[in-house]
Amino acid sequence: MKFFVDTADIAEIKDLAATGLLDGVTTNPSLVAASGKNFLKLIEEVCHVVKGPVSAEVAATDYATMLKEGQKLAKIAKNVAVKVPLTPDGLKVCKALSDNGTMVNVTLCFSAAQAILAAKAGAAFISPFVGRLDDVGQDGMVLIRDIVQIYKAYPAFKTEVLVASVRHPIHLVEAAKMGAHVATIPPKVIRQLYSHPLTDKGLAAFVADWQKTGQTILDAA
Ligand code: E4P
Repeated sequence: MKFFVDTADIAEIKDLAATGLLDGVTTNPSLVAASGKNFLKLIEEVCHVVKGPVSAEVAATDYATMLKEGQKLAKIAKNVAVKVPLTPDGLKVCKALSDNGTMVNVTLCFSAAQAILAAKAGAAFISPFVGRLDDVGQDGMVLIRDIVQIYKAYPAFKTEVLVASVRHPIHLVEAAKMGAHVATIPPKVIRQLYSHPLTDKGLAAFVADWQKTGQTILDAA
């Protein structure tokens, strides 16, 4: 399973890239606004730090402008994945860009029917938002199960399921059990993945017991 980080905070991206566990990055207009950075420069910088797909979202909502924006974003670096909304115009842009070899991430997916359309439009990634579905009383993970099942039934679909709006480690574990290809995860949740109180407790005991031996591995003959 691939891990993308869901942030436009360059310091966080650098820090997490250093773990060696990061396969890509997703941004969206809200995250870019929060960063306070120039969008194009930010994407260029992120593409240097992380070699995997870096999602950069168009700002317009009409076909012609979205297409021009997408073409401009795609020129920043080879690993840019242009992000478009799941609308009729967005999917037209997805088809046009994908046909020309640009990776496209179709965002704001909330139904399996929408995910089928994105696959037919040649999307590299479909982004179903699990947390936002949970927020309105629908089980977001049911959508992931449905999309994974449908895509598996049609090997001609090359679209990867990119689980988005991840709020906690259980979302990630459930998505992995279902065979989702990618999860985009906020930095805070990535750090939570490491944690278990028994790991901390066990390590403290081993450190204390090792000190009782009076030995050091590096100085040992
Ligand atoms: C995905 O590409 C989006 O940036 C993101 O996952 C949205 O998450 P949120 O619902 O926590 O804003």
